[in-house]
Amino acid sequence: MDKLLIRGGRPLAGEVEIGGSKNAALPALAACLLTDQPVRLKRIPPVRDIGTMERLLAWTGASLQIEGGEVLVRAGSLENPEAPYDLVKTMRASSLVLGPLLARTGRARVSMPGGCAIGARPINLHISALEALGARITQSHGYVEAEAPQGLRGAEIRFDRITVTGTEDVIMAAVLAAGETVIENAAREPEVQDLALLLTKMGAQIEGAGTPTIRIQGVSRLHGTEHVIIPDRVEAGTFMIAAAITAGDLRIRDCVPEHVHALTLRLRQAGTEVSEEGPCTLRVSARERLRSADITTEEYPGFATDLQAQFTALMATAQGIAIVTETIFENRFMHVPELARMGANIRLEGRQAIVAGVAELAGAQVIASDLRASASLVLAGLVARGETLIDRVYHLDRGYERIEEKLAAVGADIRRVQ
Ligand code: EPU
Repeated sequence: MDKLLIRGGRPLAGEVEIGGSKNAALPALAACLLTDQPVRLKRIPPVRDIGTMERLLAWTGASLQIEGGEVLVRAGSLENPEAPYDLVKTMRASSLVLGPLLARTGRARVSMPGGCAIGARPINLHISALEALGARITQSHGYVEAEAPQGLRGAEIRFDRITVTGTEDVIMAAVLAAGETVIENAAREPEVQDLALLLTKMGAQIEGAGTPTIRIQGVSRLHGTEHVIIPDRVEAGTFMIAAAITAGDLRIRDCVPEHVHALTLRLRQAGTEVSEEGPCTLRVSARERLRSADITTEEYPGFATDLQAQFTALMATAQGIAIVTETIFENRFMHVPELARMGANIRLEGRQAIVAGVAELAGAQVIASDLRASASLVLAGLVARGETLIDRVYHLDRGYERIEEKLAAVGADIRRVQ
């Protein structure tokens, strides 16, 4: 199993290019199942979750041509509208194929995702919304089985709580349903907006993506198109924090500054300089030890839960006490005991972490528990005295493209060991 070995203490300097968004590419790939015509997706990040989604599409009967960052999907006929356990267990976002398979073939069978390191993560909201669109859904032997032999019909749906992939799943079902669907309390994340843009290019009629109310007029069929995936805001945010934690100076290229605005505000509050150098470039630098800043995770445009662990690592080295409140997932503090092994002073109280910054972290052997927790350990390792060895790096590989190469290119002493 791969590990990462980091020798901390080097300020990062230089330029980093941000890749395509994993969480936008996943629904975009699922959306390719909605048409029998070829769809070409560009800037698909070569990370492990994307490989899993590609295998899932192939399993259902689609053919894929993968070259560099481009994927050409042809979902001519889908003989096998199913997401089997072996794929779903490694990637919960597999439930994103439920809506498109149902809309396209009138049936879908998707393994129920179990719990994971960051919380229970049920899909009950996806299921009740698809039922509102007329699907008959049963659950047995660990599978969700959905049927709509007469096709889906538009409906008014109000999510009890905001769900990102739930909103995406339902949009993909509704674009081929008869009549109008209105989704209230929809997720406003940039990834939802990017999916709506792709579907619109495929001939769908969608209004209001990026707002809490999305209106969809169903059409009878969709066609092929080309689409470039948006930059990954979590990767961009992780490198912004890398610049701040190492008192470095990084240019983050190919990002969308607006998508990381909530992080920018908190970094500035902590004493980091963040400036826009052109429409797609951010420059992030810090000179001295930062001050504490509180964060509360929220749905977009609030502070992203996917950057909470990384910001917690930053606060572990800042001056003063920061309160980190996690409101999206019930168990997203798995990085805290590992950061404590590196000398961080963090107390957990329910959904809050009370982080008392220390002057110095010390390298240690630590274990990655989930994707973003792993990133926080890498960041802590970059600034810790001595060597940090991070085990179970496969979590990191699920969502970050060559992170150790990108960090090494801007001056980090980091390498992968077996
Ligand atoms: N929830 C329910 N029932 C549902 C769906 C969600 O109770 O049917 C709850 C969840 O348990 C959670 C909250 O609602 O407490 C929000 O979950 P959401 O459905 O929004 O999360 P998701 O769609 O499963 C996506 C991202 C996550 C990101 C969250 C929140 C993808 C593929 N995944 O997950 O990304 O943390 O939104 O922004 O888009 C990551 O990339 O590391 C990651 C975990």
